Amino acid sequence: MKGYQKVSREVIDELKQIVGEEHVLLDDPERMEMYSHDEVADKDYAHMPEVVVRAGSTEDVSRIVKLANREMIPVTPRGAGSGLSGGAVPALGGILLSTERMNRILEIDKENLIAVLEPGVITNEFNNEVQNDGLFFAGYPMSLEVCYIGGNVAENAGGGRAIKYGVTGRYILGLEVVLPTGEVATFGGKLAKDVTGYNMVQLMVGSEGTLGIFTKIYVKLLPLPKAKIDMMALFEDVQAAIDVVPLIMTEMRIIPTGIEFMDRLSLETSCEFLGEKKEKYKNAGAFLIIELDGNEMESVRNQCLDIGDLCLDHGAIDAFVAEGPADQEKIWKVRRHVAEAFKAISPVQSLEDIVVPVSRIPALIPELQRISETFGVIIPCYGHAGDGNLHATIVKRPEDTMEHWKELLPRVLEELYKTTRQLGGTISGEHGIGHKRKPYLPLVLDAAEIEAMKSIKRALDPHNVLNPGKIFDMD
Ligand code: LAC
Ligand code: ZN
Repeated sequence: MKGYQKVSREVIDELKQIVGEEHVLLDDPERMEMYSHDEVADKDYAHMPEVVVRAGSTEDVSRIVKLANREMIPVTPRGAGSGLSGGAVPALGGILLSTERMNRILEIDKENLIAVLEPGVITNEFNNEVQNDGLFFAGYPMSLEVCYIGGNVAENAGGGRAIKYGVTGRYILGLEVVLPTGEVATFGGKLAKDVTGYNMVQLMVGSEGTLGIFTKIYVKLLPLPKAKIDMMALFEDVQAAIDVVPLIMTEMRIIPTGIEFMDRLSLETSCEFLGEKKEKYKNAGAFLIIELDGNEMESVRNQCLDIGDLCLDHGAIDAFVAEGPADQEKIWKVRRHVAEAFKAISPVQSLEDIVVPVSRIPALIPELQRISETFGVIIPCYGHAGDGNLHATIVKRPEDTMEHWKELLPRVLEELYKTTRQLGGTISGEHGIGHKRKPYLPLVLDAAEIEAMKSIKRALDPHNVLNPGKIFDMD
């Protein structure tokens, strides 16, 4: 923490002048607690800010960041705090800059299929809004009911539709950014093609709040597909369920919107949390949710039947279609709430988001089994099987002590990450590195790769004030 200053009374006064007294929180641990953590279960990753500042405009953000540079105070930007790697946690204290007030949809440009949003817009509310016009935003983060678009861009959120539609970054055409020095820059905009200089937009996407704070986001919209079907396939055997996943794309040559996987413990935990009946899932060992969309209902239905047959030929005990939007929502709700359910029911855990090439996910399942047996931990698994991104969740056994768990977890993680790498994968597909995975970055990136990233950070943030302590340490 060398070189950083504490937030002084003078700095507080200046912050109050910038955003107004009512938008500066300090000396109020109860109200400030929610800004000290994200959704990472382990409270060791939480850290209280010295002051919370709720910015209302680009100008506010710029002035706060300039002040932070002048006074050498860390600034951590924050959206809804639904992240899973500690990205929005003020790890070194300092100023927590919340974007919650910047929540306006500035424009929906139907002629260009582009919307301009402030960072604090709730992704789902925006999607509901544009659906009324027959449009949609193709990002589908699982925390969509709460997460903000700014956080989605900062983490390059993946979610449940990446196989067909790609991840958030594909839909970001432009960004107004407050740079780490406080300067304001607009990269990109409404153009579908733009090779004028470096692709700064995509450098900013996924930078985890370390290279800039987004104040306006240009989002590309798509026409809403007219037909959509969700189906479920139940399997006795976890391996059989996973083995089918690549075949849907390679043998059937169908790219569904999503292929989500849940093992039995994941499904039961989510059902229990939501108070849903789990009997209809027949106590199967694993489940796939397959979503298909298109403009012709008939052809979408035929694809669905073909996939159902493929699943039944490969060991599924049942395959059925969700009838109507209410049923579809019920299935997706169970899937979307798995992480929250585990956090409530098995709070001593580490939620991972390893990713391998799709063809290697069948090989990952026995490896998880092996790691679970070798180390004596429970590893339920669910996630975005169709794009190779699985949420293996390492859970403490009830009979083990916390001391044992703390000693064990880093070893389990190291083994899990090395195994993932051997399968051609990496340690984070969608949640980011933050400070949770920082110690493990050298397992998957070599020195030249990390140094190139640090050079960018150094160039844009010479005082290292913007979200320091994330991704890697600057020395
Ligand atoms: C999900 C979150 C954990 O897929 O990424 O549910
Ligand atoms: Zn996920």
